[in-house]
Amino acid sequence: DTETAALKSRIRQLLKDRNAVLVAHYYTDPELQSLAEETGGTVADSLEMARFGTETKAETLVVCGVRFMGETAKILNPEKRVLMPDLRATCSLDEGCPTDEFTAFCDAHPDHTVVVYANTSAAVKARADWMVTSSIALPVVEHLAARGEKILWAPDKHLGHYVERVTGAEMLLWNGACVVHEEFKSFALERVRRLHPDAAVLVHPEAPDDVVDQADVVGSTTQLIRAVVELPNREFIVATDAGIFWKMRQIAPDKILIPAPTAGEGATCESCAHCPWMAMNALQNLEQVLLTGDQEIHVEPAIRARAVVSIQRMLDFAR
Ligand code: 13P
Ligand code: SF4
Repeated sequence: DTETAALKSRIRQLLKDRNAVLVAHYYTDPELQSLAEETGGTVADSLEMARFGTETKAETLVVCGVRFMGETAKILNPEKRVLMPDLRATCSLDEGCPTDEFTAFCDAHPDHTVVVYANTSAAVKARADWMVTSSIALPVVEHLAARGEKILWAPDKHLGHYVERVTGAEMLLWNGACVVHEEFKSFALERVRRLHPDAAVLVHPEAPDDVVDQADVVGSTTQLIRAVVELPNREFIVATDAGIFWKMRQIAPDKILIPAPTAGEGATCESCAHCPWMAMNALQNLEQVLLTGDQEIHVEPAIRARAVVSIQRMLDFAR
């Protein structure tokens, strides 16, 4: 509508005035994803978001996503200003892994290499040896296991268990979960698969084991998007946040996308699988933050100095 168009054009101008660029995650509002692309920013998975921030010349990064993504951007780019539409946008994995308890867990297992998922606070990353995202967790853990290292993994137990099963690594798992992906139900998915026997099943590894077990492809958001283009199937059942459908439809308009059911008997409800914290990012608060400059990410220098080591290890490995 005309109001949205006017809002978007004001944001475009503000981005120019502030020498700012938008970095949006695939789970955010499609309006933000398209605006990021149109204005020289990017829409990406967690690993690509981290990389993009270091490559752009913009002085200000506006991270549309959840807090750990803003923190990672700041840790990698301490000289840049990092803003988010709403700093309260957290993540159940980050919330479920408080620094004190996590530190005690690590201290109790000093012979383990500490690998944490990107979805954690800067302080937790500072205690880790490695940070990984879902797109690179398998090769990193394979590499460590091949060196005979025992692994302490936090916080996502489902992703951790998946990595453990595929790599055969010896892993101690923290008991965390993503509230969005935990809602996918294996029994209901089986029903939907029976209704669409030719559909390929795409699952994010934050989903429970019995859902991952039914997948044709398990991967990060970028890897699942790629699968829609690369696999010959016409139909896809997709078990991840509904935000991903915008990009999938854009790059594969001829494919049929079916949201995996989150509850009940074969229910297919696109809006049920959507992260409440990703949903806190909107055009309105994006404009506000560009006007006021509040909602800025700060990371304590002592924490930053240690957290950057675990993040940089992953980036170097990924090269
Ligand atoms: P990826 O985009 O790296 O797969 O991350 C998924 C996620 O849950 C981010 O919150
Ligand atoms: Fe966290 Fe899950 Fe939301 Fe991603 S989708 S930010 S893992 S709660």
